[in-house]
Amino acid sequence: MTETPILPETQDRAMRYQTLIPQIKALIQDEDDLIASLANTAAGIFQGFGFLWVGFYLVKDSELVLGPFQGPTACTRIKLGQGVCGQSWAQRKTLLIDHVDDFPGHIVCSSASKSEIVVPIFVANQVVGVLDIDSLHLSDFSDIDRLALEDLNRVLAAKF
Ligand code: SME
Repeated sequence: MTETPILPETQDRAMRYQTLIPQIKALIQDEDDLIASLANTAAGIFQGFGFLWVGFYLVKDSELVLGPFQGPTACTRIKLGQGVCGQSWAQRKTLLIDHVDDFPGHIVCSSASKSEIVVPIFVANQVVGVLDIDSLHLSDFSDIDRLALEDLNRVLAAKF
């Protein structure tokens, strides 16, 4: 298995997930190191879709702390309930934000970010981290992303 994902010609989001997600799963399936698995997952999604930012925040000492990511530098620590990431953690659910400027308390890491999806990772019914993706385009995320990324996070949960 090569480390470079093979992607379809089509820009159809669902078809790209169908091609990419099994390759990411194959890449991480025999790796039990958490950071290595999160790093290759972030890189795979980043390569696959050309998002502005793809990365993980991990719950440490009652805060979310920046983990492996691809994209511009980002804020390091986020409290429970703060920003989209902290709200996803507090509400224990995936949040899709069509216009980040309309989200009260949105934490601006890059002014180029227009829409965002944050997907929690659960271990033993506790949120242990979140996957955060920022897009250059408004309303770029839908249930297609949510379902694919929630599925991926279930695989990543086994690495914690
Ligand atoms: N926008 C996020 C902060 C993290 S960055 O987007 C990488 C938030 O509001 O939680």
